Parts: sequence; structure tokens; C-alpha cells
Amino acid sequence: MELFLDSANIDHIREIASYGIITGVTTNPSLLAKEDPSVDVRDRILEIHQLVGGHCSVEVVSTDAEGMVREAEEILSWFPEATIKIPMIPEGLKATRELARQNVPVNMTLIFSPTQALAAHNAGARYISIFLGRLDDIANDGLRVLADVCEIWDVQGLDSFILAASLRHPMHIVEAARLGANIATVPYAVLKKALHHPLTDAGLEKFLADYHRLQAEIQQRQQESVTT
Ligand code: E4P
Repeated sequence: MELFLDSANIDHIREIASYGIITGVTTNPSLLAKEDPSVDVRDRILEIHQLVGGHCSVEVVSTDAEGMVREAEEILSWFPEATIKIPMIPEGLKATRELARQNVPVNMTLIFSPTQALAAHNAGARYISIFLGRLDDIANDGLRVLADVCEIWDVQGLDSFILAASLRHPMHIVEAARLGANIATVPYAVLKKALHHPLTDAGLEKFLADYHRLQAEIQQRQQESVTT
């Protein structure tokens, strides 16, 4: 399962990209709104694209198909490798069909059910973003929906990519991988937690302490053999 970073924060993206574990970034208007408003959105997106190099999803804000396609053209004029994020509404399906006809990759977003996922696939979306956390937030089971979508994709042999989004904790990553999602897009804080293990820290501390103790003993023996 590939990992994307779900962020528009340059420092976070630079840090995680330097680990060599992500193959893309997903942004959305809310993530962009958290960042410094003195930086133009286009410049921020281009910097993100340069830092990561792989997938970069940029979301439209129009709610009519024509406007969405126009915005997609604008984003593609910034960089032609862009993936266009389109909301799962009827106008979004129309826009997705048109963009797919032009061979533009679409990440269909705000998907909360298998029927929405199938519609997105049939409209031509390349990425099917299933929102886990927002379902859990309203006492629904996001992972159940993801499991249903993965099973349907398997049975039907569908080739669009299942993208687990709206992740809230490391077990969402584990379960998304176990269920067969192609990609998980992970917020910075969740990814940092997922990479950390106290036994790794304790183990390293002990290895280093033992190494330094051994070096000290070797030096002491060498000094003793010089003085005797
Ligand atoms: C990613 O593509 C989505 O926009 C994002 O994962 C939504 O996450 P949230 O529910 O935490 O806002």
C-alpha cells in the first residue's frame, strides 16, 4: 500500500518526503486554509509538487461541472501531472466523465458509501477516496465501508485505485492495508505516531550505551597496556 501525506504544510511535507516513504500528497481547501495566507495557493501547490515529485491532488471549489473543468484546466496549466480532486456530487460526476475523456486523472473525494464509490469509478475517476474518520465521527463504521469497497473491487476486477482518506490514527493505516486499499493518505501527526515505537527508542538507547561502554573499556585497556 502506498502512503501519501494529507497536508499542505511545506515543513511537514519536506520532512516526511525526506524519509523516502511517501509517493504523493493530497491537499484540500481546508488544509490550504490552515497555512500562511501570504503564500499564493498556486505557489504552494508547485512547491509541494517539487518537494514530492509524485502524485499531487488539488481540489476544485466550483460546484458546477463546467466550473470544475475550467478549474481543472487552470490547475493543469500550473503543472500537467496534477491529479484533480472532484467532490462526489452529480455535477462532479459529469466533470469527472469529461476529464476522464481527456485522460486527466481524477481523485473523487468525499465518498462515504460503496454506491458512491461505484458511481465515481463508472464516471472514470482514477482514485476513489473513501473517508474513514468522518464516518467514525458520526458513529458509522468507516472501515466497514472500506472493506465493502475493497471486496467489490476484487469481485468485479475494477482497476481504479482505492484511497483510504480521513485517517485519524495509526490503526486506520494498518486496517486500510489489511483490507487491500491501494493508498492511504495520512495526516502528519498520525504518520509521526505510526512511525514511533517506544521499544525502538529504548532499544537504540541501550545499543548506544553498550557501544560507548565497550569503547571506554577498550580505551582503558589500551592505556593500561601502555603504562605497564
Ligand atoms: C484527503 O484527500 C481528504 O481531503 C482528507 O483525508 C480529509 O480528512 P479529514 O476528514 O481529516 O478532514
